[in-house]
Order: sequence, then C-alpha cells, then structure tokens
Amino acid sequence: MSAPLLVGQGVDRVDGRLKVTGGAKYAAEFNIENLAYGVTVQSTITKGHISKIDTTIAKKSPGVIDILTYRNAMQLHFPASSDPGQGKFAEKDLLPLQSDRIFYDGQHIAVVIAETFEQAEHAASLLQITYDKQDAIFDLKENIGKSYKPAKGLGGSEVQLKRGDAEKALQTAAVKIDETYTTPVYHHNAMEPHATIAQWNGDELMIYDATQSVAGSHSLMSQLIGVPKEKIRVVSYYIGGGFGSKGFSWPGTVMAVMSAKLVNRPVKLVLSRQQVFTTGGRRSQTIQNVALGADASGKISAIKHASTVETSFVDEFVEPAGVATAMLYASENLDVSHNLVRLNKGTPCPMRAPGEATGTFGLEVAMDELAYKLKMDPVKLRLVNYTETEPQKDKPFSSKNLKECYEKGAQAIGWGERSYEPRTMKDGKYLVGYGMATATYPANRGKSSAKAILFSDGHAEIECATQDIGTGTYTVMTQLAADTLNLPIDKVKVKLGDSKFPQGANSGGSQVTASVGPAIRAAAIGAIQKVAKLVVNDKNSPLYKMDPENLVLKDGLLVSNGNGKKGESLFDILKRNNLSQIEGQASVNVSTRGQQQEANPAAGSAEEAVQKESANNEAIKSDEAVDRKSYAFHSFGAHFVKVRVDPELGKVYIDKIVGVMDIGKVMNLKLAKNQIMGGQIFGIGMALMEGTEYDPVRGRVVTRDLANYLVPVHADMPDFEVIFLDKPDLLISPIGARGIGEIGITGITAAIVNAVYHATGIRVRDLPIRPDKLI
Ligand code: MOS
Repeated sequence: MSAPLLVGQGVDRVDGRLKVTGGAKYAAEFNIENLAYGVTVQSTITKGHISKIDTTIAKKSPGVIDILTYRNAMQLHFPASSDPGQGKFAEKDLLPLQSDRIFYDGQHIAVVIAETFEQAEHAASLLQITYDKQDAIFDLKENIGKSYKPAKGLGGSEVQLKRGDAEKALQTAAVKIDETYTTPVYHHNAMEPHATIAQWNGDELMIYDATQSVAGSHSLMSQLIGVPKEKIRVVSYYIGGGFGSKGFSWPGTVMAVMSAKLVNRPVKLVLSRQQVFTTGGRRSQTIQNVALGADASGKISAIKHASTVETSFVDEFVEPAGVATAMLYASENLDVSHNLVRLNKGTPCPMRAPGEATGTFGLEVAMDELAYKLKMDPVKLRLVNYTETEPQKDKPFSSKNLKECYEKGAQAIGWGERSYEPRTMKDGKYLVGYGMATATYPANRGKSSAKAILFSDGHAEIECATQDIGTGTYTVMTQLAADTLNLPIDKVKVKLGDSKFPQGANSGGSQVTASVGPAIRAAAIGAIQKVAKLVVNDKNSPLYKMDPENLVLKDGLLVSNGNGKKGESLFDILKRNNLSQIEGQASVNVSTRGQQQEANPAAGSAEEAVQKESANNEAIKSDEAVDRKSYAFHSFGAHFVKVRVDPELGKVYIDKIVGVMDIGKVMNLKLAKNQIMGGQIFGIGMALMEGTEYDPVRGRVVTRDLANYLVPVHADMPDFEVIFLDKPDLLISPIGARGIGEIGITGITAAIVNAVYHATGIRVRDLPIRPDKLI
C-alpha cells in the first residue's frame, strides 16, 4: 500500500509550533548587533511645503544618533518598473525624503535614529517643523467633478469595458434597477505593521522586510538606491498578514535603508499602528452606480456599473470595482467604467480582492433588488443569467461549477424554508432574514521558479523566493513536495522568503499556489530524473541499465514502471556515489492572464541556469504546452447567510454563513477553510462595522487605531459552514488548484446586506450597516 497523499488533507501548519512559541522570526525580530532604532515623523498638514525643520533640540536629546530629512537623505532613483511582481513602489512620484513638498497628512518627512526605540520616539516629538500650507482636497464626494477616466488599471489591466450598447438596451428593458452603492475607506490592519531592518555590510545590503514580494522588494530596492541586485538580499521568512498592504513597497523600507547608510549602523524601522493608517495603503472609497435592465423572465439585457474611486496626487491606483461585473453574468450589453479623483491622501492600494470585494457588493445587491422587482427568487435570477463562457472575452471557463455551489449552499442554509417576502420571518423579538450572493475571483497563475535538493541523509529541501504571508504556503508546498518525492512530511523542508532563492510569484492576486506549486513539483521531478540517470548507470544498483524514463517512485523507492519488484531509495544511490546532494531546478513560464508569457531574464543572471535545466524537464514542457489563451480562468462560489435583527436596537446578529467554493483542487482542507472564513469575516466587517473616518476640516484619519476602527472579533462570529466542490482544474496546472486567498471576501458583503433586507425590508446601499440605519 502506498502512503496516502498529503495534498488535500487538513495537515497542520508546518510552522504552527514556531509561530506560537515565538520561534518564527518576523522582520522586526532579528537581534542584530549594534542595532539603532528609527522612528519616522509624519506631516501634520495636508498639502504644502516644509518651510523649516529645526533639529537642534531633538539632536541633543539623549541617545539620538542622527536625523534623516530631505536635506541629508541620499538621492533616490525613480524605478522603471510598475509591475507588482517586479517590485512596485506605492508612490511613484513621491520618493521619500527627496523634497520639501507635502501631498497628504501623515506623509513621512523625517526619521529620527537613536540608540533605543524610546529615545527615538521621544526625540521625534522634539522636531520643530514649520510649514507653508496650501489648500487641500480630500473628500471624494465633494470632488467628484474633478474625476477623470484612467486608461488602465494595475499591471495594464482593462478598467473601461464595454459590449453592445448598454444605454440603449436599458431604455427598452421591461424591468430596471438603477441605484448608487457606496463603500467607505477600509484599512488592512494586518497584525504586523510594516517593518524593516536594513544593514549595510560594506557595499552589500541586507534587508529584513515585511513584504508580500521578496523578489519585488529586492528588485525595487536595487532600482531606488542604484545598487546592483547581486549586492542586495531581502528576507521575509514570516509575515503577520498583508492582505495587499505589503504587496507594494512603501516608503518605510527604503527609509530604513537610507537611515542605515546615514548612521553607518543597522537600523530598525517599524511603523506604529497609527502611522500605518496614512502610509501603508488602504482600500479606496467607492461610489458605484449600478443599472440593470431585464425582461419579465429575468433575462438581463443591460448592465451598467460606473464606479468613482480615489487615488493620490503621487500615484495612480484604480480600485477596479466593476471588473467582476463584466464577466459574471450573460448580458449582451455592458458598460463598466471607472472614474478617478486625485485627493490629498496617501495612495490607495490592493486590499483583499481589490475591485471584486467592493464591486460584488454593488452588483450582487443590485441583483437582489432586481430579483425582488421581478418577484423572483434571487437564486433563480442568477440561474436565468448563468453563463458557461466568459462573456467579455468570449472564452469558455477552464472549469465552472457554480450551479452546484448555489444548490449546495441553498441546501445547507435551509433556503427552502425561507418565506419570500421581506420582514415576514421572526424568532421571538428578532426579525430573521436569509440572503445570498455570488462569489468570484480570477484564477491567476504566473511564472515561477524553484529548486529541489535531495540530501543523502534522506531529507529534501525546497527553495523558492516566494513567501508565506500567513496563508499557509509553507505547509501546502511541503505537502506537495512530499507527495512528489514520495517522502513523509517531516523529511521535507520548504524554504521561502529569501531573494537569493529562485524567483517565485509575489503573494498577490491569489496566485501563489497555482504559480509556485507547479514549479516546486517540476523541480522535484527534475531532481528525481537526475537520480534516475545516475541509477541506471550504476552497476551496483538493482535498476542498472533500465530505461530512466520508465523509473517511477513507489513507496519511497525508485522502481521500474511495470516491473516494480526491484528498486532503491533516492538516497541510497547518493550515498553509494559519495554525493551529499543532488538538485533539480525548474522555471515554469505560464500565464493565465491572457498576456504573453514573460520574457526570460537577461543572459548571465542566476535564472539562466534554471532556464537551461528547465528545457529538458518533461513536466515543464507538458505544463507550458497547454493552450491557456483559449480559456478564461476564474474561481466561483456562493455565500448564503442567515441573520437576526433586533428591530428595536437595529443590531444585526449573523447566525450562520455558508460558503460553497469552486476553487479547483483543495490542497489543504483546514487551511482552505481558514482562508474562506477569513474572507467572510472581512465581509462581516465591511457589511456591519468597518470604515475609516476622516476629519472633514483637515483631511486627517481620525479612526487610526483598533479601538476606533472597528473590526469583527470572536464574539461577532457566526456558525461557519465552508464546503468545497474540490474539482481539480487541470487546465490551470497539473496540480489543479486555483488559489483561494481572496474569493472568500467577494460577494459576502452583499449576501449579508441582502439577508438584512430580507429580515427588515430595509435596503441599505451605503456601508456599513450600523444600527442607526435599521431603526
Ligand atoms: Mo492581494 S490584495 O492581491 O495582496
């Protein structure tokens, strides 16, 4: 009997013990000799110039080593790239500490470096700064007239999408919905704030960073400071959450590098919770106008989704709220547009399902409204408009089983017992309601490389410059590598989060499992193939003179396929040949974004050897040969929610959330459930609690801590039921997984809002649903 496969099981996190015992080191936790502490000072005006920074008093404060300002900071170079995978600086037109200009409240303007954190923090309060203030604009609604249409979104994605003539079709539609849905600014609030330790060693630079892209941070730092990549190493072994906030690089990282240069000592720079609220990114506020037109049977003929969102004066980021609207339902006519307003605030950035999280609120509440206008069941309306092809690209989906998600979800929540009319169900004094919505997220896959090393002592190591942002990448990749190598889980060590390893995908767009998994699998297969070649030339091996192509792993032994009696372990051959290790390298160049596969890096780079070896790896050849341009790659799901509402207090209690997800192969049942629940909890926050408030006079964030920015806590948790269809998608990759980090937050907010409508008859279109909106 072969050992059961680890992939698919709810294997415990391989780094779980390290994390709960403090053994897992996060960016700020490295004990480095002679470490100095940097504390940043942030602007207290919203727009203008610094007229004077007087450092005299601060410099005399105990422990202060030096103070970094625009007057003594090293000159930075504008980076060339804006591809997040290659490193994206969040504020492309505002490199930190390069001038006296202020574009937003909370902009970094100085770093005080001292012997201790407390000394630096105290001295930071002693800086005397005078400003030359200018009038600022910071309110999206007030400045909607200043909006413009951005040409493209992140990474060159399309954000203005049309088919047919939506305007005309709307005019003739029998039934129409035309409403405005608004969402406030949200902040990621990862447990770990942005943190960096920078250490110069001669002309070499070591950076301990909290980043969702060690490869991106590495490349970006090289560009910003003009030091070759070979001289820089970025590590990020453990990350306390990112949710998109650590996908771009923020000023703190390069300011730590500049500070370390200035004082010629390693410097640690950790942002405070309050500082993260102005310079760590946020989800843009959205104002979404959604119009739907349908015939009496519910068939939709027109969809319009016009979103107005915000960006800063120093970069352009579009929260692409309408992108899912273009692909989710069949409609011959569609007009998805995005308008941007520049504000004197920091730059917004991706936050868990950027676009889909906010946009599916607008679209899926509008769908519920349309269903009620048609006197139709909301699930049925979605079935009437179901599409097997991606309507905007006119391509079949690689795999779509959404109907089954609706069926299983309806069953699990008890949708059949729901009375149709709102405000008709009760439980004692509470109003009871059921709501549902569709979830969807693109199935992204990009180029990744990896290395697999077999050691003669019987263990294997995997190396890849991707990272685990807390989602469980270490664990899933260990499962996959162990299965591929026929090894028990404790004989495989996966090493991530180090720029010196072969470049893996950045942890964004739910792409790591689908991108890095196949590279790790191929690297492991490459290593096995090398052993197979050795073994057939070894007179002392039972496999001598066999065809290496026919050798397979079975029960931990390399055996001849079809004649599995004789075999030996991968490691015995290494020992006999006095080899301490053998390694396989793989680079798999696949894209599901309908783009060209990426060009190979310049000759002579470290990647070149990997490319060369990859050319002979059959696993890579067959993976890269799949025709992916003819398909659209998406995951789907359905959320069903049961709520109780106290009609006197307006308080919403969520009793149960069912999520049924079609995300391809489930790699780890426990971690996958955790990801979906995590997304749903984000959705509870969006629906009922979260929202960043700004001072309307000065444009400053006022809810800048976790006491004032409300997030759901344990006491708010419902009964969760997460169900996976677990149908491998073999078009996306040989491992069949489509990624899972973001889909859980899509649709969930709408499902809650729709349930609240069903309970109360009150349709809330402006989030969050705080009690005042229900009484
Ligand atoms: Mo994710 S918001 O793409 O890090």
